[in-house]
Amino acid sequence: MKVDGKHFRSIWRERDGWSVGAIDQRRLPHEFVIAKLTSCEDAAVAIRDMLVRGAPLIGATAAYGMALAMRADASDAGLRRAYDTLVVARPTAINLKWALDEMRAALAPIDPAERAEAAYVRADEIVEQDVEINRGIAANGLALIEAIVARKTPGETVNVLTHCNAGWLATVDWGTATAPIYLAHERGIKIHVWVDETRPRNQGASLTAWELGHHGVPHTVIPDNTGGHLMQHGMVDLAIVGTDRVAANGDVCNKIGTYLKALAAHDNGVPFYVALPSPTIDFAVDDGIRDIPIEQRSGVEVTDMTGRTADGRLETVRIVPEGSPVANYAFDVTPARLVTGLITERGVLKPDRASLAAAFPERIAAAAE
Ligand code: MRU
Repeated sequence: MKVDGKHFRSIWRERDGWSVGAIDQRRLPHEFVIAKLTSCEDAAVAIRDMLVRGAPLIGATAAYGMALAMRADASDAGLRRAYDTLVVARPTAINLKWALDEMRAALAPIDPAERAEAAYVRADEIVEQDVEINRGIAANGLALIEAIVARKTPGETVNVLTHCNAGWLATVDWGTATAPIYLAHERGIKIHVWVDETRPRNQGASLTAWELGHHGVPHTVIPDNTGGHLMQHGMVDLAIVGTDRVAANGDVCNKIGTYLKALAAHDNGVPFYVALPSPTIDFAVDDGIRDIPIEQRSGVEVTDMTGRTADGRLETVRIVPEGSPVANYAFDVTPARLVTGLITERGVLKPDRASLAAAFPERIAAAAE
């Protein structure tokens, strides 16, 4: 997508052919800074410290992390060490493990002397695949938006609510939840996005608003607790969110607060869609609420906030009384019964076991191995 008229992806191989460039998302929206990753450790830290974030981008970063590791040590022990270092960088987004499993499957059977080159080839494929998948999500989600347009009076705006950042910054390009929005905007559909700020890291206010703004998509940032009110007053036509892991039964894990939006949508008859690439489905997890690990992050993300002062400095301030305990659950799970549909690259699916299995039979077979 475009930043100041120039096309960017969120991650790429640098001109030197081996190091990896990525947008440092910790600095947005105030500064556009590109980070250079040169080792497996750099990739692991980038994921853990949320320099990169969002399930598909975490997977892509891990894939390049394996390639960087193979440059340094392509032995069997090096392969194991790289996998073990990266797989624990963040616990909830399954795309991390998916990408590492793909990399290991490609590299383990071949001669160590060939592993570094093969690793870059496979990592590049994973990156390109993400872009292709998101194009599919865009097309399938567009049909839902067009159906809403057809029911409205001509020229009326379609209002979409989204939570967190499931935009192009969370993927390699296009985004998942935002892919249909960008395509609708490109096709001239009048579309407006309600952007949940998404405490405590504010991915909505900092990232979604930034990328929509750069792309010229009308949007409004709202405090996290506003969505229910808007839905009660007919101001949301549909909600589209992303996800970090979808269980085999259709339960959806996403950024903390998603569940509350799904409840509000259900109560108000607002369609609640989840956009996801197939690597986000975890067929090994049967019951999302019971079995998906929920990351708990540092309390500092809750107690402190960083922003730009009137004179242009970035400053961090404390907003919670000294001594008050805080909890920071980073994700929650929305039960499948509250989800209207799953927008995937293979169509809009019912959030249930049978529909997921029918759409992705090869993944079921792989999970059984
Ligand atoms: O903690 P984050 O910022 O990595 O969480 C990201 C989200 O919850 C996204 O909505 C999700 O990964 C979907 S990304 C297309």
